[in-house]
Amino acid sequence: MNVHAAGHSMVIRSATEEDLDRVLEIDQLSFPNPCTPHFLKSSLKDIFFVIEQKEIMGYLVACICDLGIRAEILRIAVHPDHRGKGVAKELLEASLRIFSKDDIEEVELYVNSANRSAEKLYEKFGFKITKNFTFLDDLDFHIFHEMKLKLLEVKEMENQLWEKNCPENVDHAIQ
Ligand SMILES: CC(C)(COP(=O)(O)OP(=O)(O)OC[C@H]1O[C@@H](n2cnc3c(N)ncnc32)[C@H](O)[C@@H]1OP(=O)(O)O)[C@@H](O)C(=O)NCCC(=O)NCCS
Repeated sequence: MNVHAAGHSMVIRSATEEDLDRVLEIDQLSFPNPCTPHFLKSSLKDIFFVIEQKEIMGYLVACICDLGIRAEILRIAVHPDHRGKGVAKELLEASLRIFSKDDIEEVELYVNSANRSAEKLYEKFGFKITKNFTFLDDLDFHIFHEMKLKLLEVKEMENQLWEKNCPENVDHAIQ
């Protein structure tokens, strides 16, 4: 896959093994508990996008579960130098387009409740908090939100809107 993000010269493509050092660098700059090279390598078989302009600016890892009904976004991060430019928005949009095409019904993710920027990003796409979890590490308690997007409902709503606004297209399609 090679998608030119709308209105930008950013390109979204599937990650390859050669991208992993840069992805790991972004991950280490983005999370207090960075992922392992092994996790990234094994994620190459899942949905693993990088977004680049002159260099890789961010990445997203997701997997499809429950016999193709549900997808989980496992990791998304943007290099600190490229934040606030719509990079994460492009990555999420691209992955939701793929999920929708693959008839995924529900997309799920987990976010630390202290991570307001990520939570706002997901809310923008219609994700809703469905559960809270408390997690204790060596130092502190953390609260995590489980967030879900009912992709099937979004698709049905879009279809209804389309049919309402363009009934002649529907008649035409049925004939
Ligand atoms: C969260 C993260 C991925 C956002 O990436 P980004 O490319 O800067 O985000 P975008 O520029 O695409 O912003 C998209 C939306 O997210 C929200 N957002 C992003 N950064 C924000 C901030 N600092 N404060 C508040 N909202 C923010 C906004 O709603 C924004 O939409 P808007 O610009 O129309 O207001 C990035 O900050 C990051 O990599 N953080 C560290 C890793 C991380 O926390 N990953 C998520 C784990 S669940």
